[in-house]
Amino acid sequence: MNYIGSKKSLLEFLESSIYKVVGLKNFTFLDLFAGTSIVGQHFKKNNHKIISNDQQYYSFVLNKNYIENHKTLKFQNLEDEIKKLKNINFEKRANFVCYYLDNIKFVEGFIFNNYCMGGTIGKEFERLYFSDENGKKADAIRKKIEIWKVKKKINDNEYYFLLATLLENIDKVANTASVYAAFLKKIKKTAKYLFRMRPANFTKNKTYNNEVFNEDIEILIKKIEGDVLYLDPPYNNRQYASNYHLLETIARYDNPSLRGKTGLRNYSHQKSKFSQKNEVLKSFENIIQNAKVKYIFLSYNNEGLMNEKDIKKIMTKRGEYGFFKKKYGRFASVKNKNVQYIIEYLHYIKCYK
Ligand SMILES: C[S@@+](CC[C@H](N)C(=O)[O-])C[C@H]1O[C@@H](n2cnc3c(N)ncnc32)[C@H](O)[C@@H]1O
Repeated sequence: MNYIGSKKSLLEFLESSIYKVVGLKNFTFLDLFAGTSIVGQHFKKNNHKIISNDQQYYSFVLNKNYIENHKTLKFQNLEDEIKKLKNINFEKRANFVCYYLDNIKFVEGFIFNNYCMGGTIGKEFERLYFSDENGKKADAIRKKIEIWKVKKKINDNEYYFLLATLLENIDKVANTASVYAAFLKKIKKTAKYLFRMRPANFTKNKTYNNEVFNEDIEILIKKIEGDVLYLDPPYNNRQYASNYHLLETIARYDNPSLRGKTGLRNYSHQKSKFSQKNEVLKSFENIIQNAKVKYIFLSYNNEGLMNEKDIKKIMTKRGEYGFFKKKYGRFASVKNKNVQYIIEYLHYIKCYK
């Protein structure tokens, strides 16, 4: 998923830097601003136990699938409804269930009625976040997944796999420049394609006891412990809750009241202090002081709300400080003709106690 602050293209940098400091030990890895889960996925592949967290529910769904899921999904309780499933070997069943969902009858539901032109035309706010077909298809699949869950036809692992698959694929056909803060006036080429349920495949390995949370990090940090804490907070004042509100609504499917032209759900309880200039240092210090870990790493760039001096000052109170840095291309939506790169820092401490 194309996500603000995603570390997809920095994985090698993160891995080599972290291993240099920690050594190639069998450490537990805490990814507590997990976003797309891409960093946790990388360390999961290397067989570390992962604990991941994010305050956004769509991110929790992605993490439940990519981080917590670790064995073949058999979809045994769907055999009554999808007769052909019985003849399909377990390894191929997840793909077959996705294919089945790809072909179900479209329904006009919350997404179509609030975020597509066909559903909003003539209403106070006309919106074009998805084509009509994609909106109806998303509604049909989202409803079906929930019915299966309520009727216990799928277990939690299967539920999060299917939801993650829907989120990943509907996001590819959004009619936006990149995030959901606004939609485009005309439907763009990629938004015209009917999305397909390409399976959100996860790594099946021996790490079977990963844990995923959906909490404010300042609360969670006091309740968990591990070896390596990786922090990748928001850098600036763009709130993830408003930039990805549609993914949140599709994940929750909770019929929220919507506001204004862009159809925002209420996100007052999800405003991140890391995106607020006057709150960020206090929150950052709170995390550093309360973390029960041996090493702390912080990804942050040179344009963030906290400056390097403040970061060093706060981190040094808990351990021996160092950093790595790397030039990095900008996120697509904020590309500026003058400065095409930023400097990505990986600050770290080896904790004294
Ligand atoms: C820079 S992104 C992380 C990107 C992630 N490393 C990746 O590669 O996809 C920051 C994430 O922190 C989450 N977040 C912001 N404030 C938070 C808080 N107080 N507690 C937990 N998560 C928070 C946001 O929802 C967002 O997903």
